Amino acid sequence: MNVFLPLVVDQALAAAVRAPSPQNTQPWRFVVDGPRIEVWLDRDRVLPVADPAGREARLSCGAAVCNLVLTLRVNGVRSRVRIAPEAADRDLLALVSIEGNTRPSTLDRRLAEAVYRRHTNRRPLSDRAVPPSARALLRSAALGEGGHLDFLDGSGRYAQVTALVRRAETEQATDADFRAETARWTGRAAECPDGVPTDAFGPPADIPGVVSLRASHENRSIPPRPFEQDPVLAAVLTRDQGVAADVRGGMIMERVLLTATAEGLATSFLSQPFEARSTRAQLLAAFRDLGHVHTLLRVGYGLPTRMIARRPAAEVTTVRSAPEVPAL
Ligand SMILES: Cc1cc2nc3c(=O)[nH]c(=O)nc-3n(C[C@H](O)[C@H](O)[C@H](O)COP(=O)(O)O)c2cc1C
Repeated sequence: MNVFLPLVVDQALAAAVRAPSPQNTQPWRFVVDGPRIEVWLDRDRVLPVADPAGREARLSCGAAVCNLVLTLRVNGVRSRVRIAPEAADRDLLALVSIEGNTRPSTLDRRLAEAVYRRHTNRRPLSDRAVPPSARALLRSAALGEGGHLDFLDGSGRYAQVTALVRRAETEQATDADFRAETARWTGRAAECPDGVPTDAFGPPADIPGVVSLRASHENRSIPPRPFEQDPVLAAVLTRDQGVAADVRGGMIMERVLLTATAEGLATSFLSQPFEARSTRAQLLAAFRDLGHVHTLLRVGYGLPTRMIARRPAAEVTTVRSAPEVPAL
């Protein structure tokens, strides 16, 4: 029996809740039951307008699983993940079973440490190129979780996808329901444990950029600034689609984000074309030859911004029975 196991599990849950989620909704719940940690979708925190099917929420829960398992591993605990383990209950997204001991790698340690530095950077990035070596690391991070990362400038999808981002942004900017939902989750005080505070927003762009970050995440009280004109964009893909693929997609996304953080790269998301009705089908079709696209990331070099708060792990965790390593 590892006498430190309860502390390790606490630490792993603290890392899990550092995962990104749309509007920092944190749509997860955890149940600790001896050697099992269940990861549940919290339906009350799924965005009904932007994410009616709960797809982005499932990606977020997948990202939480990635952080959880990684943090168990760097503390010497080996676990096994079963995604969507019960067909009858589609909200039980993952089951993490503690199996025994392991020896973490240097890479595990680097990524686990990046959990506490990764954040969404909505500010302008520099025009410094992301070198091939860093791109290769990000691609192999996706591969390591069973997915694929496509750099849009390399695959000829750049113009088509950035046009979809702009179209979706325009659609959402004029959608009253979307605006009301965004208003509910943004503009909060800095110490608020969920939602996106204004100081995590970026400045408005002084001239329209190639891609539009969300206008709803602009801080109009700071002066407009030039944004990079050729942002590096990358898409996270899996071969399959469906509930399990969404959770897997979230695990892949988070490993890519942590790898980027460890490499000194800033990241943010472009989710408008997944969310807007007029663009979603076209976006999926644009990547169909590669698989199923889950998220679009903007990657580059920039000054770090502030980490934003989370609800404490204890608030979203139920302990049915104390963590334990299963008897052989
Ligand atoms: C699936 C998904 C989609 C997201 N889409 C956007 C987006 O389109 N624009 C944006 O500014 N942030 C987006 N975010 C980032 C969240 O707003 C961010 O993760 C959350 O506010 C927590 O902040 P942090 O990432 O800095 O920890 C997205 C996050 C996830 C997981």
